[in-house]
Amino acid sequence: MLKDKSRKVELKVSADGSHTLFVPELDEHYHSVNGAYNESMHVFIEPALHFCKKETINILEIGLGTGLNAFLTAQNQGGKTIFYHALEKFPLESEAAASLNFARDPDGQQLFEKLHCLPWNKEEELQSQMTILKDENDLTNIAFSQKYDVVYFDAFAPEVQPEMWSEAIFRKIYEAMNPEGILTTYCAKGVVRRTMQAVGFTVERLPGPKGKREMLRAVK
Ligand SMILES: C[S@@+](CC[C@H](N)C(=O)[O-])C[C@H]1O[C@@H](n2cnc3c(N)ncnc32)[C@H](O)[C@@H]1O
Repeated sequence: MLKDKSRKVELKVSADGSHTLFVPELDEHYHSVNGAYNESMHVFIEPALHFCKKETINILEIGLGTGLNAFLTAQNQGGKTIFYHALEKFPLESEAAASLNFARDPDGQQLFEKLHCLPWNKEEELQSQMTILKDENDLTNIAFSQKYDVVYFDAFAPEVQPEMWSEAIFRKIYEAMNPEGILTTYCAKGVVRRTMQAVGFTVERLPGPKGKREMLRAVK
């Protein structure tokens, strides 16, 4: 049986052939069933990482989960220097991480395995010019001590985890971002957009990944 720290998870194949995980207890997938890999590229790598023009980038991810966003960030680093702070309340057990098929070649597989083997709660070099902190922590409790240029907001949906999408959470993140910092999320709900605007973000609706009309990009 595959598990994260507290729950059973099931391995599923999404429409682009990449894996995702299903959490029966929440009746929720980690990614879009229309394509996990494509969703990550479309929602986080292209409109956030590639949109950020800085050469040295501090990234915050909510939450690390399967590591797909961190892995694709490393594969799309493009000569930048990256500090990657990945929050995760329920780390995946190693058996679940080892079953995932995101890598497309042996070098990618080695990188993905390294990502999951690195210890928690310690800054470690994932690859040249990319440091990662896998932080076993709860977004609702954490007090940030650094500033971020890019935020991948990849919590479970507001219907499943409303506490992650509150004004207090977005204010905390806004305050922890540098001016012109970029936050993206797959969620395009009006209430989420208005909550982001209420804390000060300028929010755009962008075309969503396959199966979703829109997604959001918020800029400080
Ligand atoms: C939609 S999944 C996405 C995971 C990941 N980005 C991926 O690509 O696999 C949401 C993630 O947020 C984590 N999470 C849930 N509640 C959290 C909290 N309070 N603080 C930090 N992470 C949390 C979940 O355990 C899960 O890994």
